Amino acid sequence: MRHGSDQDLFSQTAHSPSFFDLSRKLGDGARDLVDFCIPCNPYFPTPDMFAELAQNLEGVLKFYPSANETIANRLAKVLQLNPSTIAMSNGSTELITWMDHLWTTSSIAVPIPTFGRWTDQPMETGKRVDMFLLQESEGFALDVDEYIRFIRARGSRVAVLCNPNNPDGGYVPRREVLRFMDELSDLDLVVVDESFVDFVEIEPGASVAREATIRPNVVVLKSLGKNFGLHGIRFGYLVANPALARKMAQTLPNWNLNSLAEAVVFMLADHVQAYEDSLSRLAMDRYRMTMELSRLPELHVFPSQANFLLVKLENGANGTDLRDHLLSEHQVFVRECGNKLGMTSQFLRLVVRPEQDVQRLVAGIRHFSHGRWADQREQRLVSVPTLLARNVS
Ligand SMILES: Cc1ncc(COP(=O)(O)O)c(C=O)c1O
Repeated sequence: MRHGSDQDLFSQTAHSPSFFDLSRKLGDGARDLVDFCIPCNPYFPTPDMFAELAQNLEGVLKFYPSANETIANRLAKVLQLNPSTIAMSNGSTELITWMDHLWTTSSIAVPIPTFGRWTDQPMETGKRVDMFLLQESEGFALDVDEYIRFIRARGSRVAVLCNPNNPDGGYVPRREVLRFMDELSDLDLVVVDESFVDFVEIEPGASVAREATIRPNVVVLKSLGKNFGLHGIRFGYLVANPALARKMAQTLPNWNLNSLAEAVVFMLADHVQAYEDSLSRLAMDRYRMTMELSRLPELHVFPSQANFLLVKLENGANGTDLRDHLLSEHQVFVRECGNKLGMTSQFLRLVVRPEQDVQRLVAGIRHFSHGRWADQREQRLVSVPTLLARNVS
């Protein structure tokens, strides 16, 4: 069934339209929508966990959540971190906002492309944003030494490193991140955004959160929406030395966490194995999906350690056309990256999803290419008589 897409939906913000906006627009068609846009763990929480949450929903929604320290203490226990080294927030975007207000006084270095708030937030508050362009020819890999040289040359006072990076999924090995932190110990702040680090498979224990707690100027940022598959309840946290973590915790508003977030945090300890299993399944899906998409001659797939894959459309095909085709003809929702700094409309970010969903995506891409190919062929056929007519006259 064909459903129209609304261009306005895609031009309202630098981010994707929400699933809710899209669902309202599509009406009945939303029932079949497959979301390759928002990078979310499809295997966690498990159906049993959702059932447990649903059973307790009335109580959860009727009452105030506990104080932030109570929730943070519980999370710290699950993560085996010292509670004095964490500050919890209503989504990690809240922390990006407050880090800018508290600790970015003049300038910030950010590799691009990356998550838009890292450049938009400081620009909105009048800071200088030193953008370090990751090169497509290098597969968007971050060369730590070159980035450090760039930071020194610009005199940036704060530096961000997103690992793995969004939208390409590129991963910087742990020892390189540690070196980056150590070389920049004189900056006002070094932020390592580890929103997607739990999806890393290439090396065990990829996070540098523990190391951040014993450094003077390092903050590690986590967004729990992605790995715990719960964007809607909005939770994230930072890990840093106790002075930095306390400063942030004291700055954040009281009751910035909601009761659903609290309920989930208190469930986690009983579901550690299910969480680990979800990550293994996702890594398997990522491998399969990479293979599957790499077979399509119209795509170039970049290697990723996150729960999404960046692809480039070959032969100048336009990602906006493909996005609209997939949505209207196949009810497949993808992220076209034309509005990301350092990207063009030829790039799409595709969330890692189970095999049957990938089959639908692949069929949609094939259908789109076939249509394009047929259009081009038709144009060629039309242009032959036109040419002949021109030659005759
Ligand atoms: C790298 C990165 N950091 C932080 C965020 C913000 O996440 P949230 O505010 O949903 O926790 C995102 C969202 O996509 C992201 O990609």
